[in-house]
Amino acid sequence: MKRNIANLFLGGALIGLMSCQQPQKQTAENPSDTLHTILDSASFGSKVAGKDVKLYTLKNASGSTAYLTNFGARLVGLMVPDKHGTLTDVVLGFDKASSYNNPAEPYFGPIVGPFGNRIAKGKFTLDGETFTTPTNNGPNTLHGGKKGLHFANWEVKEANAKMVTFTYTLPDRHEGFPGNISMEVTYSWSDNNELTIHYQATSDKKTVINLTNHAYFNLNGEGSGTILDHQLKVFADKYTPVDSTLIPTGELAPVKGTPFDFTVSKTIGKDIEQDNQQLKFGKGYDHNFVLNETKVDGLNHAVTLTGDRTGIVMEIYTQEPGIQFYSGNFMGNKVTLKNGKTDSFRTGLCLEPQHFPDSPNQPNFPSTVLNPGDTYSTKSIYKFSTTK
Ligand code: BGC
Repeated sequence: MKRNIANLFLGGALIGLMSCQQPQKQTAENPSDTLHTILDSASFGSKVAGKDVKLYTLKNASGSTAYLTNFGARLVGLMVPDKHGTLTDVVLGFDKASSYNNPAEPYFGPIVGPFGNRIAKGKFTLDGETFTTPTNNGPNTLHGGKKGLHFANWEVKEANAKMVTFTYTLPDRHEGFPGNISMEVTYSWSDNNELTIHYQATSDKKTVINLTNHAYFNLNGEGSGTILDHQLKVFADKYTPVDSTLIPTGELAPVKGTPFDFTVSKTIGKDIEQDNQQLKFGKGYDHNFVLNETKVDGLNHAVTLTGDRTGIVMEIYTQEPGIQFYSGNFMGNKVTLKNGKTDSFRTGLCLEPQHFPDSPNQPNFPSTVLNPGDTYSTKSIYKFSTTK
């Protein structure tokens, strides 16, 4: 009996606690009230398809928190303060690890590869030998094929309160890619709200590699509506136009005078509906921008993105020559997010620092070849702050 009363009391306290964490109605005083999402290890789960998975929580001195998991080496949540100081989850994802193990899952937060983005017709040639990769996106290979890295169960080499290092070795000819490719990806979360992702890889055979992170961001908070009123600045005077299957034509075209001109900050929605062949091909923005060489400390300032309601600012700095801007055009209420909302059309966007799509077939693009004995190493930094 005593136990029952204790349970009742505990249950009541839990319900009380849970109701505090329920999304509340948005108010003018605090526009971020709807935006809390909280992940916890117990409900996240510890197995996916029979393999061990874990939620890694990196919490910094100010309480801002990055959530990661080894399944797909994914970023599954990122709580940063808005302009009022309210912690807001700016990354889309699921509250359960098992939800990521779904072919219809839209690549929420993983490391994609070994070749992120597209390879035309699933074919490329190295030293006269042609390699074939699965065509999982119309006639092309997307994000490493059907069994790309997003479904890999990465090992954890090191984890502490500030960083996690994931490792994984793809066997030779996995999804057609040559070489046993050994990868190491370190996520670190600093006290001044900077998320750094450092990628390294080696291969025992000549291969191609293009690793990036595929997080969907909504700086007003996950599930808070479209990203069309976010302000975006892209530090790129050129972009790579595509054909109808989203493979670059090979041209580096000026953005000036086109909807692709984000050199002066504008809302994403401003030109997205313009009558433009490239926007029709992408169903919106789904294009690689050629980053201006602004390198400071070896990194190009790629983008500055601002959430219109929260004032949350994300700047991306990268060693990569390009960034894919995908405005969530294929989203459409297919999955349920952490906070119970669905992934409606354009309610998240991806900004993926990377080499240009289809580089293995485009001799004029920066090379993505990795030779045995060489180490692939690249770094991108996502800096979070707020407007005043
Ligand atoms: C691609 C989109 C694709 C999306 C999948 C992006 O990197 O550019 O075309 O639909 O990934 O989530």
